[in-house]
Amino acid sequence: MCGIVGYVGDRAATPLLIDGLKRLEYRGYDSAGVAILNGKGIETRKAAGKISRLEAVLASNPVSGNSGIAHTRWATHGAPNECNAHPQMDCRGHIAVVHNGIIENSTSLKARLVELGHKFVSETDTEVLAHMIEEAFDGNLEDAVIEALWQVEGTYGIAVVSSDDRDKIVAARKGSPLLIGLGDGEYYVASDASAILSQTREVVYLDDGDLAVLTKDGYRVIDLRAKDLERTVHKIDWDLSQIERGGFDHFMLKEIFEQPETIENCMRGRLLDEEGTSKLGGLNMTDEELLKFDNIVITACGTSWHSALIGEHMLEELTRIPVEVEYASEFRYRNPIVNDKTLCIVISQSGETADTLAAMREAKNRGARTYGIVNVVGSTIARESGGGIYVHAGPEIGVASTKAFTSQVIALALLTLKIGRLKDVSVVRGKEIIHALRALPGQVKEILDRAAEIEEIAEEFKRAQNFLYLGRGYNFPTALEGALKLKEISYIHAEGYPAAEMKHGPIALIDEMMPVVFITPHDSVFDKVVSNVHEVKARKGKVIAITSRDEPSLVGMLDYEFRIPQTVDMLTPVLACIPLQLLAYYIAVKRGSNVDQPRNLAKSVTVE
Ligand code: M6R
Repeated sequence: MCGIVGYVGDRAATPLLIDGLKRLEYRGYDSAGVAILNGKGIETRKAAGKISRLEAVLASNPVSGNSGIAHTRWATHGAPNECNAHPQMDCRGHIAVVHNGIIENSTSLKARLVELGHKFVSETDTEVLAHMIEEAFDGNLEDAVIEALWQVEGTYGIAVVSSDDRDKIVAARKGSPLLIGLGDGEYYVASDASAILSQTREVVYLDDGDLAVLTKDGYRVIDLRAKDLERTVHKIDWDLSQIERGGFDHFMLKEIFEQPETIENCMRGRLLDEEGTSKLGGLNMTDEELLKFDNIVITACGTSWHSALIGEHMLEELTRIPVEVEYASEFRYRNPIVNDKTLCIVISQSGETADTLAAMREAKNRGARTYGIVNVVGSTIARESGGGIYVHAGPEIGVASTKAFTSQVIALALLTLKIGRLKDVSVVRGKEIIHALRALPGQVKEILDRAAEIEEIAEEFKRAQNFLYLGRGYNFPTALEGALKLKEISYIHAEGYPAAEMKHGPIALIDEMMPVVFITPHDSVFDKVVSNVHEVKARKGKVIAITSRDEPSLVGMLDYEFRIPQTVDMLTPVLACIPLQLLAYYIAVKRGSNVDQPRNLAKSVTVE
């Protein structure tokens, strides 16, 4: 999704801004631009497409100055072309704005501005902001931004500069992440810490409703009534090498191979072997409180929603508390039955997904306790939830989520263990689960050591047009996740189904051209899935099976087989998803896709 970087200080702003934009590339975008205060006025350079195009524009027509703002845009209003790229300007070219989010009342605001004589050049909602700030401007930029923002409905993370109030950046946030970076005689604004991490580790996260004023002499955070606010300075402790590729061809592959370590990180210090339970520091709830909930609602999007489905299965099996999983985008608009007896678990890698954040706020408003399972430390969901588990997967750069997914499943297993042991789960069963959890990093490594086997299967199927993924029980969500990974990065149509549902429709699709991936480890529903394998084979479908041991009933039935180690049922998705991630990855690479930044997708979807 869109990215913002801004700089004010004594150094040349342009290279710093371009460096910052490049570090945000992983988020997905389709155009980029900069606005530099050059001592006399504002100069902008913009380009459709990748940042390299913007660099080419800057090389042939350089621009220099000591402060400026920059943006990578992911189109929402208007095509991804140079005109619609940010920064957007006012009529006189004295005010430049970069914006993440959506101004929902832009049409009516624009009509009013047009009546007042403003001339618009782009199709963006952002340009409305530039003209509104122009209309309100009376010599002081923050006052004008405040006046404009009072009239705006929707979401924004913005950075604004003006040649009539120089060497100052005004930034504001509502519903779209923004932070300030603190340097020595220089300050930054960014939508994501990775943009400025090479320059500073001291950051201030802005909250919704905050407005920041940055000059090279210091910064202030104020509210929309211009009242000064106190905001904590945070120190970022992850380093840049963690977000570099580390010798792998793609971030996605690196992240797949990091999973033995990230799974370990998620469990570190949280397992109580002797008691057969877990210890969750961020819970902020007593055992008594934890036992008081009548029901649990888990809400999330995409891959995080798939881990939620696995969590539902675990929690219901071991705690006997009714659990519902809701797409966050649906939950927020459907008058959900949630009250102070509900525990609402919110799962998000980024902690910034707009729908998930809105769903969490909705649950909170209805009195539910909210609990975040989040990767990005300091993200909005992490800060606004009443407690939670950081999954500690480290920065996930590849747009297709991999290591965050396995860590989310581990976090859900830890929570299940905790509540389950407070209820009826015996210490023996608790210990059995802990034993299985502890074995996972080694087992994942074992699978990764055999990645070449998956690459061979990928070679065989790289030209397929369709794929079916089938699984049951804990591995129905794994099937959904395998299909999502494949379609996201290879653009092959893929569907995930509960294996037994196949006969209610998708079976019509099966012929010799249809690869069907069965996720069928030896678990409690194994025998049932075997029948479905036979049904596919009888119709000449190509069977690729993820299994966990020799099974006479499958002899002669499998075109390709990949063995995963044995574990307890509830943890089978953690092992079964690894070959599926690799299959998607290798097929995508063989088809020449842009694996880390697949078309049309964004890493963090911060618009509705
Ligand atoms: O950051 P989140 O976990 O909230 O993101 C949710 C989805 O946007 C995300 O999982 C998306 O589906 C990924 N591209 C999956 O690979």
